[in-house]
Amino acid sequence: MKKMEQIYEGKAKKVYATDDKDCVIVAYKDDATAFNGQKKGTIVGKGIVNNKVSNHFFKLLEENGIPTHFVEQLSDRETAVKKVEIVPVEVIVRNKAAGSFSKRMGIEEGTELKCTIIEYSYKNDALGDPFINSYYVRALGLATDDEMAKIDEYSFKIDDILTKYLKGFKIELIDFKLEFGRFHGNIILADEISPDTCRFWDLETGKKLDKDRFRRDLGDVEDAYREIISRLMGE
Ligand code: TMP
Ligand code: ASP
Repeated sequence: MKKMEQIYEGKAKKVYATDDKDCVIVAYKDDATAFNGQKKGTIVGKGIVNNKVSNHFFKLLEENGIPTHFVEQLSDRETAVKKVEIVPVEVIVRNKAAGSFSKRMGIEEGTELKCTIIEYSYKNDALGDPFINSYYVRALGLATDDEMAKIDEYSFKIDDILTKYLKGFKIELIDFKLEFGRFHGNIILADEISPDTCRFWDLETGKKLDKDRFRRDLGDVEDAYREIISRLMGE
């Protein structure tokens, strides 16, 4: 597959066209942003960790029946993926209270929930990715009801697979964000699953091993990313 011109640059990744019309190449950067781009920084090595960890998870999910955009890892930072039309609905899955949920609801981080929560936000940087519900999705035509049913089904299944898997490495999956895309009429998992897009807490100490260390200036940011890749992949 031949890498061609850059077609997009996001906050954490660049996307390149290829000579295959169904494929693009994503290149993971070390740039980090938080609070809708208001806080900016660099996490050295983050792009490599996120590329490898995300591919590791996507392969695991494929093996467990979740269709994903993953095609082939090309290098430490680059991966070929299926070219999808991104559904502009970000899906957040919460197993325990944390982050914006804790703030909004006045509930201490780490509090158990009676059931797993799925919430949506409208993928729109100019608006700061506002919280929406399924009526907004339908009213604005962001996705069909059938597509949203698939997205919910996959999201709960992904939660189940990853929660069990991570427990084996003494990591608790607190919450995470997913993005889906349309590929030849089907919904498939897209974007990434990495310490940028998940809350990973050490199962025994509760230590945060994710981007919250950057968002909240907790220190040891690079170490946390390295800890995740070393526990999961022995690197
Ligand atoms: P939140 O508690 O800030 O809403 O975040 C929930 C999860 O979603 C958390 O694991 C981090 C992830 N997330 C992203 O991947 N991108 C984002 O822009 C935000 C706000 C959160
Ligand atoms: N990626 C997001 C941003 O800068 C925020 C986050 O992950 O906290 O907008």
